[in-house]
Amino acid sequence: MCGIVGYVGPNIDDKALTVVMEGLARLEYRGYDSAGVALINGPTVDVRKRAGKLANLQRAIQDVPMPAANTGIGHTRWATHGGPTDENAHPHYGGSDGKLAVIHNGIIENFHGLRTKLIAEGVQFRSETDTEVVAHLLARAYQEVGDLTKAMRTVVAHLDGAFTLLAVHADEPGVVVAARRNSPLVVGLGEGENFLGSDVAAFIGYTREALELDNDQIVTITADEAVVTGFDGTPAQGKSFHVDWDAEAAEKGGHASFMEKEILEQPLAVEATLLGRTDADGALVLDELRIPVEHLRSVNKIVVVACGTAFYSGMTAKYAIEHWTRIPTEVEMAHEFRYRDPVVDKRTLVVSISQSGETMDTLMAVKHARELGAQTISICNTHGATIPRESDAVLYTHAGPEIAVASTKAFTAQITACYVLGLYLAQLRGGSYADEAQQVMRELHAIPEKISQLLGQMDRVREIARFMADTRSVLFLGRHVGFPIALEGALKLKEIAYIHAEGFAAGELKHGPIALIEPGQPVFIVVPGPDTPHGLHGKVVSNIQEIRARGARTLVIAEEGDHDVEPFADEVIRVPQAPPLLEPLLTIIPLQVFACELATAKGLDVDQPRNLAKSVTVE
Ligand code: M6R
Repeated sequence: MCGIVGYVGPNIDDKALTVVMEGLARLEYRGYDSAGVALINGPTVDVRKRAGKLANLQRAIQDVPMPAANTGIGHTRWATHGGPTDENAHPHYGGSDGKLAVIHNGIIENFHGLRTKLIAEGVQFRSETDTEVVAHLLARAYQEVGDLTKAMRTVVAHLDGAFTLLAVHADEPGVVVAARRNSPLVVGLGEGENFLGSDVAAFIGYTREALELDNDQIVTITADEAVVTGFDGTPAQGKSFHVDWDAEAAEKGGHASFMEKEILEQPLAVEATLLGRTDADGALVLDELRIPVEHLRSVNKIVVVACGTAFYSGMTAKYAIEHWTRIPTEVEMAHEFRYRDPVVDKRTLVVSISQSGETMDTLMAVKHARELGAQTISICNTHGATIPRESDAVLYTHAGPEIAVASTKAFTAQITACYVLGLYLAQLRGGSYADEAQQVMRELHAIPEKISQLLGQMDRVREIARFMADTRSVLFLGRHVGFPIALEGALKLKEIAYIHAEGFAAGELKHGPIALIEPGQPVFIVVPGPDTPHGLHGKVVSNIQEIRARGARTLVIAEEGDHDVEPFADEVIRVPQAPPLLEPLLTIIPLQVFACELATAKGLDVDQPRNLAKSVTVE
């Protein structure tokens, strides 16, 4: 939540403003309640900020241009303390001389006490934010120590919570100081210029060389260097890395929305996530896991923790992981996990799934799992993010940057990565699925081509979506691996089209939800392939008949060649044939396309739905 940019570079016209505004445009997906920028301009810091989307700030700057500067910071906000107003937008001035400005991502948990104390001492607040408390504390500390880095060190010692803070002071032109605790921050290393960002998208147009920071570190950037220290002043070093995608990957490339683009990128996302994970003989090789093999062999329980779409990818993967490894696998929403005294010990493997790698709920669950002695593996799409850094091992998905708030390509990449992990564990532990792992990998390798084929036949789905633009409620049914797909299909629709949508296990219908069916109620049904064991296909076909008999409009997602569904379907949406456990990688595609098209037909902002942000860095 909240996007943060910082820049120091050469004295070239409006370079600082250009870099900061470009960075904010790329980070706007992280929060878009308001935006602001601060540039060092002679004896003071010049701040512009506006409620609403970045376009409002851009217009304000066009109307009254900002000065040329070589140092700047910028912020795009997802409101926590105080509504989305001009006053609450960042940056916030500290003190009353206009010399110091601060931006912040996260929450200062003890802000209330600090604010009360400052007010009692005569400080006047201009906003309702927790951030302004930090700004005033910093201004005071600066008066005492006369050095922005030292002042930051003094102030962070008094803060509780999670935060990334960036500060500039007019008496230190050419310097931006940043501090991070449990909140994202990366440094971009340029030539004669340096950058700070919530993620690398902030500066990807200028450099692909970056530096990860640890928790509780401060970094001071100038045009020539980035100096890292601990909160206690101990010299430290960031870990450098090269970003393996470029600015083009983070642009729309002619598509109407990032979501549309990202849906279409799924063949590549799945393929890239499978790449390099087998040796010449087809055996799985996950060197990157760096957890001793003996330990993985001794695991007696797996707990998957994640939120939102990532949680549904974990739910999907559970069926396969248990089937292949015979290890009991629980999947839990990360925000519930740590508050219920979970039974976790050193033989438990906790697998977190997160596209951003910054979701605070998931991060806290991982930390809790480690405290309990579990081994932790992070499945993550973002290099250098906090969750992989806090985990024992990481398995990256290689979906490329996902910008749309609604997660699509990360979802299919996450399922793919979970499957790779499950097959690897099966291979390590022996047993019947060890032998089959290579066969399943071959089937997985065939999936990207099938997704491409499916994406090429989505015209009817788009037509249905446009036709349903005024629908007020849509239900989704699935069974076995189709159940989490029903939940994910419903989430997509709620999230971007603001339509009441619910997913149910088809078997649960008769226990209550069938009462919702009335004439004309649209229901998507994810039908397992006819080869699915235990006669599940027939059971779901019966469920379709049951709701159709009560007037439902049935939109059936079924395999090519499955004719059993035809008599009971108002629409049949065909997907290529695949082994039952791999079907979710296909059946989710029409549901993503449906939601995207319907939201577009309603004239909504598909990429930036109301009240949401891409990366949820508060609990
Ligand atoms: O970055 P993460 O994968 O940890 O994010 C988890 C959820 O916040 C995320 O999947 C959210 O549910 C999406 N907006 C859904 O499309």
